[in-house]
Amino acid sequence: MCGIVGYIGKNNPKEILINSLKHLEYRGYDSSGIALKNKSDIQVIKSVGKINSLEEKLNNTELINSNMGIAHTRWATHGKVTVDNAHPHSTSHITLVHNGIIENANDIKNNLLTEYSFKSETDTEVIAALLNKFYEEEKDIYKALEKMISIVKGSYALAILVDNLDKIYAVRKNSPLIIGIGKNEYFIASDISAIIDYTNKYILLGEEEIGEIGFNDLVVYKDGNVCKKEIKTADLIKEDVSKGNYEHFMLKEIMEESSVFRKTLDKYISDFNNLIDLSNYEEIHIVACGSAMYAGMVGKNLLEEECSIKVDVECASEYRYKKVFYDRKTLVILISQSGETADTIAALRKAKSNGADTLGIVNVKTSSIAREVDYNLFIEAGVEVAVATTKAYLLQVLALSFLAIKSKYKVLSEELKEELRNIPSLLEEVLNRKEEYKKIANSIYQSEDVFFIGRKMDYAICMEGSLKLKEVAYIHSEAYQAGELKHGTISLIEDGMVVVAIITEEDIKDKTISNIIEVKTRGAKVILVTNDGSLPKYDFNIVVPKINKLFQSMLVVPVLQLIAYYTALLRDCDIDKPKNLAKSVTVE
Ligand code: G6P
Repeated sequence: MCGIVGYIGKNNPKEILINSLKHLEYRGYDSSGIALKNKSDIQVIKSVGKINSLEEKLNNTELINSNMGIAHTRWATHGKVTVDNAHPHSTSHITLVHNGIIENANDIKNNLLTEYSFKSETDTEVIAALLNKFYEEEKDIYKALEKMISIVKGSYALAILVDNLDKIYAVRKNSPLIIGIGKNEYFIASDISAIIDYTNKYILLGEEEIGEIGFNDLVVYKDGNVCKKEIKTADLIKEDVSKGNYEHFMLKEIMEESSVFRKTLDKYISDFNNLIDLSNYEEIHIVACGSAMYAGMVGKNLLEEECSIKVDVECASEYRYKKVFYDRKTLVILISQSGETADTIAALRKAKSNGADTLGIVNVKTSSIAREVDYNLFIEAGVEVAVATTKAYLLQVLALSFLAIKSKYKVLSEELKEELRNIPSLLEEVLNRKEEYKKIANSIYQSEDVFFIGRKMDYAICMEGSLKLKEVAYIHSEAYQAGELKHGTISLIEDGMVVVAIITEEDIKDKTISNIIEVKTRGAKVILVTNDGSLPKYDFNIVVPKINKLFQSMLVVPVLQLIAYYTALLRDCDIDKPKNLAKSVTVE
């Protein structure tokens, strides 16, 4: 979703801001803009489409000499994708960029209509107008910001320029914002990856804190007092946010799966004794969005089948509003790569306010979810740039497998350790069979509809495989519980329809085979992904190594990720930044 960067210092703000914005492209956006400032002027330039078109506009404009600026990528929520709606938004004294949603924007706007004429449809301009009014009344930006904070509801991360002040102001609530610290220069960013080319030192701005960033000083205030902030160092290097020799981040990140698996595994093995035992709880809820929720479905299957622990999996956008019963001792597990997904954060807060314990399975350690949960089980995926998650999904499943091991066995046996340590090389073997996946992609890329079928764990795998194909290759696809196919969906099966079947579970193998026969009889083209080499041959059979059920899905999903990737490649899709999608959905 929207991304924010800001710069103040001795270097050229334009170059730094554009370069940093490019590092935020992965979040998803449809327009962008920049504001440059010197002592007397503020110049705003905005454009719809990719950052390249903003860059082109900047190159064709006579720019002011500036020493500070703010910039933004906008993912449209309030108002269409237009230049007017793109950020920054300017009023007479205030120019700002915003990430988040202002829930009472309409009420505030109605009160301002007599004194201000709005140029855009955005909630952001409403804050700019409000802040401008308060600044005119108070003649003090700090007091104006405090007043604004007390009135505005919802989520916001703001980077603000004030016409007659030589500073940048940053403020946030329910939406992340960091301040990067360089040598005699400061940065503002939605996340550290945006500014990693310049610094890895930063502070996290807290809820409703106000950052006042000058050329030589940075002061953070909360409720009128100066806050002492810890300077953090990101364990991120420039190469982590570059594609290296790969054509796309998605492929790079899939190919990193074995190495990030090893890293996470080592940590889980050494921390095993401290791992939470889910059998101490009477009720488990797994709450997440998108792929993270599908990882949760794999976890549910493992915990129920292997540990006899009943688990409910809910998508966070439903969970936050539905009636939830917390009358038993409940653990709510929040799964989120970014740790900033708005619905998942809301679900977490609901669980906490109802007295449930909370556990986060998160990749970004400094994220809101990581900070707010009672317990963390971090995954070590490193930076994931492609919008469609791959390596983080895999590690979320690994985390859930560890919870199942702990709950089932209490100790980690040498045999299990051995099995786990074998997985990275098996993963490499699976990942390296690219020619097979390319052949499949070649055979399905012109399809309009694809079905994925499987039962139990295999169904959970289907959900993720189907989502990947939709997300990156824009092919309509559905995941179906294989036994349910007959109850309607089979009417859609016709000659040449692609059906991807997953079979990894012994006890339902024959049942899913019967379902494959049913679709085959009706002309379907069947791609079977299985761990059983003795099964009948279909149009394509991919046989992955058979391993312990606790880990089996982690050898199957990469196959589906690569099939989706190569299919998207043939369809010439914008693989790393699929249309309309955002990596981190920080608004509702
Ligand atoms: C978005 C992304 C998905 C992701 C989901 C949850 O929809 O496009 O790839 O699975 O958000 O994100 P999270 O950061 O909470 O795992």
